[in-house]
Amino acid sequence: MLGYWTFFPAEAPWGRIPVMGYAEVVASTHDAVREGERLFGFYPMATHLVVTPARIERGLFEDGAEHRQATALAYRQYLRAAVDPQYRSDDEDGLLLLRGLFLTSFLVDDFLGDQGYFGAERLLVSSASSKTAIALAFQASRRTGLEVVGLTSPRNVGFVEGLGCFSRVVPYEAIGALAAAPTTVFVDHAGSRAVVAAVHERCAAGLRHSAVVGATHWEGRRPSRTMPGPAPTFFFAPMQMEKRQAEWGAGGFQDRLGAAWHSFREFTRGWLAIRRDTGPEAVARVYQDVLEGRSAPHVGHILSLGDA
Ligand SMILES: NC(=O)c1ccc[n+]([C@@H]2O[C@H](COP(=O)([O-])OP(=O)(O)OC[C@H]3O[C@@H](n4cnc5c(N)ncnc54)[C@H](OP(=O)(O)O)[C@@H]3O)[C@@H](O)[C@H]2O)c1
Repeated sequence: MLGYWTFFPAEAPWGRIPVMGYAEVVASTHDAVREGERLFGFYPMATHLVVTPARIERGLFEDGAEHRQATALAYRQYLRAAVDPQYRSDDEDGLLLLRGLFLTSFLVDDFLGDQGYFGAERLLVSSASSKTAIALAFQASRRTGLEVVGLTSPRNVGFVEGLGCFSRVVPYEAIGALAAAPTTVFVDHAGSRAVVAAVHERCAAGLRHSAVVGATHWEGRRPSRTMPGPAPTFFFAPMQMEKRQAEWGAGGFQDRLGAAWHSFREFTRGWLAIRRDTGPEAVARVYQDVLEGRSAPHVGHILSLGDA
């Protein structure tokens, strides 16, 4: 849906999965990009990537390769660690795991806040044990008068309750028992037909907005288009980011994001276990575990093909 397969094209029927990572410039023929620079951005699962620096600024540049021009700007930018206000050499793992998803959730909460949360008294968040949902709950829990309710699988209820950033946690099976009356905004990370339909049916009368962010329940059937309440709308993070950068300036945006990021990162230190693995077999194994939902929600994986 977001064109991820086009980042690093491969010959059909193959595809290269993009990952977020750090890389070091090992050779450069461009005056403004120095050997030894450390860069954060999207990479292929590979040892090397050749980029064509374009739109070069002090803090970042973009890959000007033609095949990447169709994607959102944020997907082809490389941030220079040396001048990145969020960068800390002793917390690259935390940044790799959480930075991208925190940015999304910061923007989701910011977008909803911009709309006065559509007048809602309650925020429902599905796949509440996912890191993206936790980041949203963390941001939204700072809003006064908003109940933040997490929806999750029965096996993850205890973990989500223990986080302390949700007002309440409800297993998917009990969605039908939620209070129907409160005005509600729903942010979906699960992408499951059963979950989305249950929320729309239960909350229809007071459902003010239904946003789609993810699809962790990727094996199930996709949500139907005919449900009570407002049609689910895909939240496209780069659009809200461009709006805020225009309103606050690039620096103003980074300052606000940076302050929020630091408190979220501190919060995650209380529950997040970072696990490192190296080598192609480990990459394949962990990838399959995450895909099949076998990875525990408190674990974050950092993988490398070799000793970087
Ligand atoms: N649109 C954007 O800009 C954007 C940005 C970041 C992330 N996302 C999306 O948001 C979602 C969450 O990402 P994340 O990195 O935060 O995920 P994560 O931490 O890896 O999420 C793990 C959780 O997902 C659910 N899950 C995982 N595999 C499953 C499976 N095979 N079957 C059923 N449930 C499964 C479980 O949650 P429950 O038991 O609680 O359901 C599990 O605890 C993803 O779909 C991701 O692509 C979108």
